[in-house]
Amino acid sequence: MKKVVIYISVLLIAVIQLSNVTAQQKSIKQKVDSVLRSMTLEEKIGQLNQYNDDWKATGPVTVDNDKANQIRKGQVGSLLNCLGTERTRSWQNIAMQSRLKIPLLFGQDVIHGYKTTFPIPLAEACSWDLDAMQLSARIAATEASASGIHWTFAPMVDIARDPRWGRVMEGAGEDPYLGSKIAYARVKGFQGNKLGDVNALMACAKHFAAYGAAIGGRDYNSVDMSDRMLWETYLPPFKAAVDAGAATFMNSFNDINGVPATGNKYLQRDILKGKWGFKGFVVSDWGSIGEMINHGNVKNEYEAALSAITAGSDMDMESRCYKKNLVQLVKDKKVAVALIDDAVKRILTKKFELGLFDDPFKFCDTERERQALNNPEHAKAARAIAAKSIVLLKNQNNLLPLSKNTRTIAFIGPLVKPLRQNKGFWDIEIPGIDSNFIVSQWEGLQNKLGTNTTLLYAKGCNIEGTTKDGFAEAVEIAKQADVVILSIGERRDMSGEAKSRSMLNIPGVQEDLLAALLATGKPIVVLINAGRPLVFNYTADNAPAILYTWWLGSEAGNAIADVLFGDYNPSAKLPITFPVSVGQIPIYYSHFNTGRPATNDNSHNYNSSYNDVSIFPKYEFGYGLSYTDFQYSNLQLSKKKMKVNEEIEVIVTITNTGKYDGEEVVQLYLRDKVGSIARPVKELKDFKKIKLNIGESKTVKFIIGKEKLSFYNQQLQWVVEPGDFDLMIGASSRDIRLKDNFEVVK
Ligand code: BGC
Repeated sequence: MKKVVIYISVLLIAVIQLSNVTAQQKSIKQKVDSVLRSMTLEEKIGQLNQYNDDWKATGPVTVDNDKANQIRKGQVGSLLNCLGTERTRSWQNIAMQSRLKIPLLFGQDVIHGYKTTFPIPLAEACSWDLDAMQLSARIAATEASASGIHWTFAPMVDIARDPRWGRVMEGAGEDPYLGSKIAYARVKGFQGNKLGDVNALMACAKHFAAYGAAIGGRDYNSVDMSDRMLWETYLPPFKAAVDAGAATFMNSFNDINGVPATGNKYLQRDILKGKWGFKGFVVSDWGSIGEMINHGNVKNEYEAALSAITAGSDMDMESRCYKKNLVQLVKDKKVAVALIDDAVKRILTKKFELGLFDDPFKFCDTERERQALNNPEHAKAARAIAAKSIVLLKNQNNLLPLSKNTRTIAFIGPLVKPLRQNKGFWDIEIPGIDSNFIVSQWEGLQNKLGTNTTLLYAKGCNIEGTTKDGFAEAVEIAKQADVVILSIGERRDMSGEAKSRSMLNIPGVQEDLLAALLATGKPIVVLINAGRPLVFNYTADNAPAILYTWWLGSEAGNAIADVLFGDYNPSAKLPITFPVSVGQIPIYYSHFNTGRPATNDNSHNYNSSYNDVSIFPKYEFGYGLSYTDFQYSNLQLSKKKMKVNEEIEVIVTITNTGKYDGEEVVQLYLRDKVGSIARPVKELKDFKKIKLNIGESKTVKFIIGKEKLSFYNQQLQWVVEPGDFDLMIGASSRDIRLKDNFEVVK
């Protein structure tokens, strides 16, 4: 009886909450309609117009000294790159002088933190820790929203399988399953409980779509892709973002099969707003409406505006095509006012949901900004997430973790002392706040070590360039030490937007410096700092221990020290394949088998291999070591045959057999053995990250149902085809520890 009462109460509360939300939405709809009725066509078009402010341009700049005047006339709906409560307040004040007082939206690339900088998104993805990633987005939102910002242009959910493309750093790697989980977590993190809360930031899933498949890894390049590849691999993270309630989407610079994404009706109207029922609005990428002229799809800005608005791009970021052409397009009866109304309504709805009509200065509280930007809890979280992002690639003879009682440590390399390098690309420098709060790698080690350890330093060489003048000093210092830590890598801005590279080596003479140091015979730990997978075979084959640190953000130094000295046992796993050579790219684990599969590197007997390089990557998807060892045992399936609508329960036991407490990411892969469309050799379909103390065992449970077995058939229907499936449980996509199989029957 008691249970029934509780059940009914819970149900009632849910119904009341739901009807509150519906009532709220209804009243917002009425308010939007009422504002719309009072707007002139010019004012409507103004809402679709977004300009850059002066902080820092993130695209080609159009100098415009008339912005204030245009805002006063209601001709601007949003600004980007406008930071801080004071600056946003001053622009909002001007908007309040317009006839209808429609508040401005302030958008910003809050990609991996605001003041507190978290690891670059690709690094965070190595944690496979969805709660941690949600928390990092939550903190970024808390800081940014306190600093006047309403909207982040994140998360970037583009699948990326080509490390030549500099923007791999912004995403979650190569896999649609992992990428979707992370997209969902990040949207939830940015937006918090609900838009309208004072610390919620609108998320923007970008870049819709397939931007990560730019040919040759060259930024902004064309994409040539089958529908199946689009649906199976590139769209799922966007769908996950919609499911998480993402308020906005951004389209992309690339064309897909000859149609620019910005003018792509199939993507924006048919899929996003149609099939997926997306209710938010779509912003173009910077200038991408006008760039359709360069693509060769439209003749001039007039046609560009027509193509973009018809396709479903609601807001024009910085191309001014809408502002200059939509009135004429309406007069010429090429664009129906209803189309413009739909875009305006979508934008106004978000302004209402954020609460800006009630209080346009809601996010401009200077005291709240001060507190949010100085919250010590944020730095603590950043440190914990950074430690979780560091990948242990190699640890010969258990060189790591180092003892805190080591007498002398030589810390060498061009990345030991810099501060800002640690933040990576897409960091935010807030005017008036210097970089001193960033913990350099040197400072991190100093913080960690007591007076018993002597810490020596030499730069050794620059990141780039050919000079080896610093080698002798570095070698001298190494000789005095018990252990050497060498910090090398890319410059922080060698990856990011417009940062494609054709050579993925560690630049300059940094690997030569490693060779010189190895000649001393001292044990060496190498830290590789980068925004993408690099190719570093010399280091990989010769250094005894390697940590891939990526760019870890403002707490980099502390997090690196935590891992080096075992206060955090590394648990990160790669979300993207590391190639042996650039020539292997694109290389990813979930490839097809081909008609002539190669199984090893010793035979090139008319099979699908390279004659001059391995078929295997240097480090595979899902790879990453720990200071401890995990044993996988006792794989059990609840049944070996299932009907399409049934489920199989899979359990497996994991035991920590090593000498440290640690975390393991247990990965489940499936292979559909025979399909009307060939299926990949394996696909990640689930994972669990678990913590195990020394000697501890845990049972991990997975459920396999229809969703995990489905794929797009010839007609692009999402189906399960009866037949045999291989099930693989592994510590990486290659390190499969246990296998079984099952059959799906009609
Ligand atoms: C990038 C977007 C970014 C926008 C605004 C563009 O160049 O592609 O990702 O959000 O600029 O900064």
